[in-house]
Amino acid sequence: MKKETEEQEAIAFIDLHAQYERIAKSLHEGIERVCKRGHYIMGEEVLELEGKLAAYAGVKDCVTCGNGTDALLLALMSWGVGPGDTVMVPGYTFVATAGMVAHLGAEVYFVDVEDNFLMSPESLGRGLEDVKKRGGCVKAVIPVDLFGRPCDYDGLREVSGEIKLLADAAQSYGGCYRGHPVGCQGDMTTTSFYPAKPLGCYGEGGAVFCNDAETAQALRLRRSHGEVERYRSEVVGLNSRFDTWQAVVLLEKLKIFEEELESRQRIAERYGMLLRESLGDRVQVPEEGDREGTHFRSTWAQYTIRLSSHRDEVRAYCGERGVPSVVYYPWPLSKQPAYRDYSCVPGGLGMSERLSCEALSLPMSPYLSDGDVERVVDVVTEGVRYYLG
Ligand SMILES: Cc1ncc(COP(=O)(O)O)c(C=O)c1O
Repeated sequence: MKKETEEQEAIAFIDLHAQYERIAKSLHEGIERVCKRGHYIMGEEVLELEGKLAAYAGVKDCVTCGNGTDALLLALMSWGVGPGDTVMVPGYTFVATAGMVAHLGAEVYFVDVEDNFLMSPESLGRGLEDVKKRGGCVKAVIPVDLFGRPCDYDGLREVSGEIKLLADAAQSYGGCYRGHPVGCQGDMTTTSFYPAKPLGCYGEGGAVFCNDAETAQALRLRRSHGEVERYRSEVVGLNSRFDTWQAVVLLEKLKIFEEELESRQRIAERYGMLLRESLGDRVQVPEEGDREGTHFRSTWAQYTIRLSSHRDEVRAYCGERGVPSVVYYPWPLSKQPAYRDYSCVPGGLGMSERLSCEALSLPMSPYLSDGDVERVVDVVTEGVRYYLG
């Protein structure tokens, strides 16, 4: 095994420092302003941010909250999801998508994904039939724009009909589907501002997007204990308000967000071109989407390839040579102790199980240089050739 790159400095899996250097000066001024004013939670910058986030997502309202998990919870609570309801969730996703359904006492029902990591309309259709046969009541479907690529919302709507769609866009805020920004495809959309997300703050944060004032008001009430006035609660709620200084961070990052998304797209295209050239069909690379936005634009929260075997060995090989990679979701949720008693679609979750063994996410951030991308591809190529021949 060659280790010719071991003298070189390791590449960052996600480089947040380069971005910080870019925004540091105005960021510090903004934070000082907030500290001097003393309005630390839900200050005026939060309102400004909500307006900007809603406009960017092409919807009327954005309600920020404590994190992307609470965003899902608040949305489901505002639809009254609870015991006796079923919510359809993909088998291959981050745990929060299913967790908040279970937390409310509703039934999680797992459907499969396609080989692009996204909920399969065909599997959803089979799942809905199954729940109907059993006399269940499907209250919502939660498609997840995994790794930043928007789902096939037209296909999902076609099979889900009148059932509400809650788009989990924790990884895809800033993307587009058929020329429309992520945010307007679901009846509600949630996102996360966890630091590693394409639009991340420097702590916890999240938001819900919707298109009617009544829903927005219901969400606002619930994020702050359901209080209509100080110490008088009309509905049950949470403490899930947004910090003013995190709004300052996001306002600064929004100024460079489009440019960063362009850079992520360029890097993804370069990865795709080089990996196809060096490895052909020994790896599956993600579809790059249409730069004009007619079909989809991914935010490239992750650049995730698939290896039909030896994924973990290739990962270790790359790691030893300063090229980090991450295996997201190594077990489908339906196989995990907390979720294995919930129902799965007839025919099972074959693709979710397969992706759990095959997917490998490579370094991605808008600040990866061409040289970094080449180095990642070279090392991955060596590793794949070594183990897969
Ligand atoms: C698909 C998905 N949904 C929900 C969440 C939850 O977001 P948060 O970590 O901000 O609670 C995440 C976070 O990683 C996610 O990736």
